[in-house]
Amino acid sequence: MTAPDLSVPLCGVRLGNPLVLASGILGTSAELLERVARCGAGAVTSKSCGPTPRAGHPNPTVLAWGHGLINAVGLSNPGADEEVRILRDAKARLAPLGVPLIASIFAETVQGFGDVARKVAEAAPDFIEVNISCPNVEAEFGRPFAADARDAAAVTAAVRRAVSLPIIVKLSPNVPDIAAIARAVEGEGADAIAAINTLGPGMVIDTDSGKPILANRTGGVSGPAIRPIAVRCVYDVSRAVRVPVIGIGGVTCGRDAVEMIMAGATAVGIGSAVYYRGPEVFAAIREELRGFMETHGYSDISQMRGLAHDA
Ligand SMILES: Cc1cc2nc3c(=O)[nH]c(=O)nc-3n(C[C@H](O)[C@H](O)[C@H](O)COP(=O)(O)O)c2cc1C
Repeated sequence: MTAPDLSVPLCGVRLGNPLVLASGILGTSAELLERVARCGAGAVTSKSCGPTPRAGHPNPTVLAWGHGLINAVGLSNPGADEEVRILRDAKARLAPLGVPLIASIFAETVQGFGDVARKVAEAAPDFIEVNISCPNVEAEFGRPFAADARDAAAVTAAVRRAVSLPIIVKLSPNVPDIAAIARAVEGEGADAIAAINTLGPGMVIDTDSGKPILANRTGGVSGPAIRPIAVRCVYDVSRAVRVPVIGIGGVTCGRDAVEMIMAGATAVGIGSAVYYRGPEVFAAIREELRGFMETHGYSDISQMRGLAHDA
């Protein structure tokens, strides 16, 4: 049998393998994005950037609580002007490696999303990812745009008007019907959907002090504990839309990545696993995925995609 082909097409861009660095983990500088690419990622996503610099929430902001992480980083970022410089540098470092760059953005208003998208497009990333789903800034920003189909559609339309780059819209699991939100953003021109952002908000209490551990008190939950929810969301979304889905949530090994693909994902995001296994996790999961395909006789990722849908 010939060696399995791990490459996947995503909106006309070919990824050497389906594993994508999720936004917010090691995506804060060009050096770190390059490092993750050299560690075997098929594509890398920058940390979400907003219109102006933002300090984020006070420490502690991230906690490993046993079955996953909880975080309230609070969208800390250097603002769109500085981000363009970082993304240009990242793009130059990634080009010789053949690893595409996904630039993640957020804003507080619909128009703000269009403005930030137009700004970061100056750095010519391969994709723009539209983060409408962060659950740990609700106290400041109000309900995430991903919580309502009309709001999610309005943001997508604003970004669509602003840029011609492929747009990925990142959805929240914290909704009763994620498929309806997916259809709404596809209808306004989303080229792909990323699912899911963190679950929650959740809370972890220090039972010695009786106080919540995160300074923000609540945060978004990620890692292995949320994987079955992420898999169900990817399954629902990929049945509802024609555009490709990046399946994210709790993937820590090759079989987890296979599960996402069988749920319907074209590519697979990895975030919390970088905390557990380091950036080397990308090459490790890639080889676990290759081993699975060899053992099971798959020569191409597309042969596994959406297999669960036939059940
Ligand atoms: C510390 C931390 C920071 C994050 N920051 C962002 C962010 O800036 N933008 C975003 O879209 N998602 C952010 N996320 C969510 C991840 O990209 C991902 O959707 C989520 O953690 C689920 O995947 P995982 O279980 O593999 O971590 C963050 C997650 C963590 C753990």
